[in-house]
Amino acid sequence: MKHASLTSTPLVALLALSAAPCIGATTVEATGAAPAITEAAKAARGRYIVTVSGCHDCHTPWKMGPKGPEPDMSRMLSGHPETEALTPPPRLPEGPWVVVASATNTAWSGPWGVSFTANLTPDKDTGLGKWTLRTFTDTIRTGRHKGRGRPVLPPMPIPMYKHFTDADLAAIFAYLQSIPVVKNRVPEPIPPTPSTAAATR
Ligand code: HEC
Repeated sequence: MKHASLTSTPLVALLALSAAPCIGATTVEATGAAPAITEAAKAARGRYIVTVSGCHDCHTPWKMGPKGPEPDMSRMLSGHPETEALTPPPRLPEGPWVVVASATNTAWSGPWGVSFTANLTPDKDTGLGKWTLRTFTDTIRTGRHKGRGRPVLPPMPIPMYKHFTDADLAAIFAYLQSIPVVKNRVPEPIPPTPSTAAATR
């Protein structure tokens, strides 16, 4: 085994060496356009990750479609709509139910109080327009607003998303910064009160 891997190593190295000049030549030829292509490729991968990771489930308000609730892509990733006035969360009876969500799937009541999904569009006042990649990465990795503020509340899946690689987070952020701006000021979360705590106990 040892012998086999020793003899195969130089072969691999040789192959890599012989391939290198070709790769180099291609890159040099495309120099002018290379950075733009990289950014576009990053955003395209970010779009894919955002789609399959369920960000739309919570951050794109749902509307009623022909087959039931579906994300309203005209308000893509703009978070809980500021125009939607909510009544206090319902008081739940004794039993296994602990979480209630609004019809838009953007407001959630649970033992943590009421949380509203954030506006992830690049609006400078109400979205992530002023965030840097660092702000975004620190938030997801630490589970605190901008890496040092208040804890990011459920049901934002921080426990899972903090395991995204740096490259994945960079791709997600590149995509989020490229989507249409929606001005929508999401309300601050409401802390648990005796009534919501009892409602969701
Ligand atoms: C199950 C619902 C859910 C899913 C899925 C979800 N989020 Fe969230 N997200 C939330 C909620 C709720 C908040 C607001 C939490 C709060 O106010 O503390 C939030 C907040 C955020 C914030 C703002 C944090 C801050 O401190 O300002 C970012 C950024 C974010 N989510 C990104 C994403 C991305 C990117 C995805 C997909 C990869 C995603 N979320 C998927 C529910 C969700």
